[in-house]
Amino acid sequence: MVRSVNVAIVGAGLVGSAFVNQLQSLRSHAVTYNVILIARSTKALVSKTYSPLQLSTWPQDLAATSSASGLSPGDLAAYLEKSPLPVILVDNTSSDALAKVYPVFLAQGISIATPNKKAFSSELGLWNAIFAAAANFSDKPDKKGFVYHEATVGAGLPVISTIKDLISTGDEVVKIEGIVSGTLSYIFNEFSTLSSGSSVVKFSDVVNKAKELGYTEPDPREDLNGLDVARKLTILARLSGLDVQSPSSFPVQSLIPKPLEEIEQVSEFLQKLPDYDDKMEETRSKAAEEGKVLRFVGKIDLSGESSQKVKVGIEKYDAAHPFASLKGSDNVIAFYTKRYGQNPLIIQGAGAGAEVTAMGVLGDVLKIAERVAK
Ligand SMILES: NC(=O)c1ccc[n+]([C@@H]2O[C@H](COP(=O)([O-])OP(=O)(O)OC[C@H]3O[C@@H](n4cnc5c(N)ncnc54)[C@H](OP(=O)(O)O)[C@@H]3O)[C@@H](O)[C@H]2O)c1
Repeated sequence: MVRSVNVAIVGAGLVGSAFVNQLQSLRSHAVTYNVILIARSTKALVSKTYSPLQLSTWPQDLAATSSASGLSPGDLAAYLEKSPLPVILVDNTSSDALAKVYPVFLAQGISIATPNKKAFSSELGLWNAIFAAAANFSDKPDKKGFVYHEATVGAGLPVISTIKDLISTGDEVVKIEGIVSGTLSYIFNEFSTLSSGSSVVKFSDVVNKAKELGYTEPDPREDLNGLDVARKLTILARLSGLDVQSPSSFPVQSLIPKPLEEIEQVSEFLQKLPDYDDKMEETRSKAAEEGKVLRFVGKIDLSGESSQKVKVGIEKYDAAHPFASLKGSDNVIAFYTKRYGQNPLIIQGAGAGAEVTAMGVLGDVLKIAERVAK
């Protein structure tokens, strides 16, 4: 017998749209996925009878909805609670407000699959509340909502599932080192290269090029402040067993020159950034003299060798290190564990992009469906 599950998709931007397309072309027929809701911030397409929406015309149907405002998390919870089938909420937003009510959804038996980092990288209290309410981290039979968030670190790369598998099978994390921002990966791969003879590029020119290519946020300071990396490190550290209070509770190096932090206009920031190129060039050339390159890295060290267990910032690597030969905007994460010893388990590949991120989210949806579909 084919089992079924209802799916509610909140967030229909780059990842949300790719997710709907991938769900539509799923080859697995073991479970039927009925999409009952697709929402963006200002509009919501809702099946009042919980019968499946027509997916072939969803962009037009969503655009044609008359609602002038989106659904509040409360309205959403009330609607999903009455679903006759088990429900998976797919949160493809970066909304804080929605993330804050995950414990409520989970307690109602609504499962969650999401690439939204907010719930897992904000205050520790929210993390604890989520996992106390989730069925996959509880031995209480009354808990029915599962939570999966593979795409919160490394997009579609199997980072979260790997660390969970390592730990649940009894391995111990000694150290994790990773380049987990596609934007900063690109910037440093271009700025600090192995080829000694190559012409020197200016840091500000690389930032401008990254912006032109669409690799940065509209305001590149949102990448350069290191917070995105800090959020991902918070998630990895917590999964490794550290009670990290928040992404601001450990040292994070910002690449924004102090005097440029408060500038309002992005254009003015970019215009003044070249004034600080000399300082970055000094760091780069010092590393080059030692035969090393610079990379923007997050580090978790549980070995006891370092007084600082979690930190984010520029590190130097010699040519033989896998991080030194990274290309484009790839992510790379090295897990040093008791079992893997000195040769880390390394995961590398595209760490951003709508298609790969949506794949990570869809993989989570399939895992949840295997457990809850009826
Ligand atoms: N893109 C990537 O490569 C990538 C990689 C890894 C993780 N992620 C994560 O994936 C998530 C989505 O990213 P994206 O690139 O798809 O962003 P996006 O294109 O900006 O789309 C975000 C969507 O969420 C909707 N939204 C925002 N707040 C909402 C709310 N309160 N209620 C309902 N809908 C809301 C937006 O509505 P409107 O359409 O009305 O604005 C939009 O449809 C983010 O958490 C991001 O960090 C993205």
